[in-house]
Amino acid sequence: MQKTRLLAALTLATSIAGFFSTNVVAQQYAVVDTTNQPLSNEVCATCHGGAGQGNPVVGGPSLAGLEPWYLRKQLENFRAGIRGSEKDYIPGNEMQASVARLSDAEIDDLVETIAGWKVIENDHTIEGDLGNGQALYANCAACHGADGEGNEALGAPGLVGRNDWYMFRQIKLFKSGYRGVHPDDTAGRLMRPSTQSLKSDQDVNDVLVYINSLDR
Ligand code: HEC
Ligand code: HEC
Repeated sequence: MQKTRLLAALTLATSIAGFFSTNVVAQQYAVVDTTNQPLSNEVCATCHGGAGQGNPVVGGPSLAGLEPWYLRKQLENFRAGIRGSEKDYIPGNEMQASVARLSDAEIDDLVETIAGWKVIENDHTIEGDLGNGQALYANCAACHGADGEGNEALGAPGLVGRNDWYMFRQIKLFKSGYRGVHPDDTAGRLMRPSTQSLKSDQDVNDVLVYINSLDR
């Protein structure tokens, strides 16, 4: 297990050096002995942790606890380049390259495996003004739910239990037009306008502190 992860990490480093001129997935398949390993270990563990707990160093968020419908949608979006194909956003490009060759059956398999992972409580890394955050969250509740539980009909994922550092980055990506602008990204386009209600990084921090306070 440990050895496999090390090999996967080395493979990854080599791949990043070559800026994904060759496919990460292909390289990992070639170097790591993947006999009897779930696909999540072969392909995802280096960046998202062996149990989906996330890896802040490479910017891969925790996956344990993601709603299966949202997880599937994001994997399909990355695979199709609807998300993660901006030329100068490397974390998104890395993720895109990692899943670009997954088959539908492999996505089914991953969604099923990840649904079985135990949710791990994430550390809170952001400080801010809870009161201001609560007021700002009024702009989010219609889609993400009063308790941050999400709304499948609208395609809005639950926000409770997600990494705050990851959400900070995503909100900034939506705000600056790096996410939620692709013509086929219907859900992202629904999300994007509300980020304009967050006027500063401090507002983003404040609303995330409020979302953190909704943690179970
Ligand atoms: C090379 C590193 C890397 C690998 C390998 C990788 N990911 Fe990612 N993944 C990332 C990064 C970085 C992000 C965040 C992208 C961003 O900031 O937009 C991400 C984002 C995601 C998201 C979006 C989460 C959300 O809340 O929207 C999902 C789902 C995901 N990855 C699943 C997977 C799965 C499943 C695998 C294995 C098949 C995988 N990833 C392999 C780096 C990776
Ligand atoms: C009109 C509905 C709507 C509103 C209002 C809204 N969102 Fe969203 N949000 C969405 C949808 C839909 C997505 C999923 C986008 C996708 O599939 O890529 C999303 C995605 C997100 C994500 C990314 C989650 C992830 O795992 O990558 C964050 C963070 C987020 N919203 C935070 C907020 C905050 C904070 C507010 C309030 C300022 C807000 N949203 C308001 C609909 C909304």
